[in-house]
Amino acid sequence: MPNHQDRAIIITGAAGAIGFATAEILASQGARLMLVDITGDALEARGAELRATGATIETFRADCSKEEDVIGYVDATVAKFGRIDGFFNNAGVEGAIAPIHEYPIAEYDRIMSVNLRGVFLGLHYVLKQMVAQGKGAVVNTASIGSERGLAGGGPYNAAKHGVVGLTRTAGSDLGPLGIRVNCVEPGVIETPLLNEILVQMFKGGIEEGLRTLGRVATLDRCGKPAEVGHVVSFLLSDEASFVNGSAWPVDGGALSTIRH
Ligand SMILES: NC(=O)c1ccc[n+]([C@@H]2O[C@H](COP(=O)([O-])OP(=O)(O)OC[C@H]3O[C@@H](n4cnc5c(N)ncnc54)[C@H](O)[C@@H]3O)[C@@H](O)[C@H]2O)c1
Repeated sequence: MPNHQDRAIIITGAAGAIGFATAEILASQGARLMLVDITGDALEARGAELRATGATIETFRADCSKEEDVIGYVDATVAKFGRIDGFFNNAGVEGAIAPIHEYPIAEYDRIMSVNLRGVFLGLHYVLKQMVAQGKGAVVNTASIGSERGLAGGGPYNAAKHGVVGLTRTAGSDLGPLGIRVNCVEPGVIETPLLNEILVQMFKGGIEEGLRTLGRVATLDRCGKPAEVGHVVSFLLSDEASFVNGSAWPVDGGALSTIRH
């Protein structure tokens, strides 16, 4: 099991399914966590839940697409913990499903601003701190949509392709300084965000959607948030010391095959 004893780690989108499942795993491995999310009440509830297990948890309400908020969570982490050892740059939104020629422009701007600008801003300010320390590890959240098209998901897919580009570039920039940057590419994971999409896409609702989407994976099912969290924990740990600039599918085999 990776050891994160006393490490200071920031998680964005921490009130959400994948962010919180990862927080539970990292806290159980000894990390001190700064949980960041745009939703205040859910964030506080999640923070209290983890604190009750004895973990060291701070919370910071922030909109990751706003520069002043990103500076805020980075500064708050350094003020509380003195350093940033790990960063799970994970906040994201799904958005409307529509073909490109009908896609609302304002919705395009919203998706890109959270899913790409927010990831860039987090990298920019956290990496400054890690460079000053001379050490650190980052995991961004991309998607299997980073590797394939998905009808109706143009801006989401474009942003997630961009996350892989930022990951590879940041890995190239910072690797020589001893700082590693990787990303995970979750496949179909059972979360509220996925349920939102299923309601839009499947007349039969969430259950039919989960059965249908589960079939894209060779494991024939959807994944669980903790199955992403364990890979994130590994990539943030010293056990992954020779892994940099890489994109890790956590998708039950979906990208490995053409199902027929
Ligand atoms: N669920 C899936 O199947 C799946 C698949 C591939 C990739 N992903 C990615 O995983 C990440 C986590 O998603 P999830 O499935 O846990 O969904 P989720 O909706 O449960 O969690 C996302 C969290 O991000 C927060 N957030 C949204 N906008 C924000 C902003 N501007 N600033 C700060 N926080 C913000 C939300 O409040 C929420 O708590 C996202 O980047 C998503 O794109 C999810």
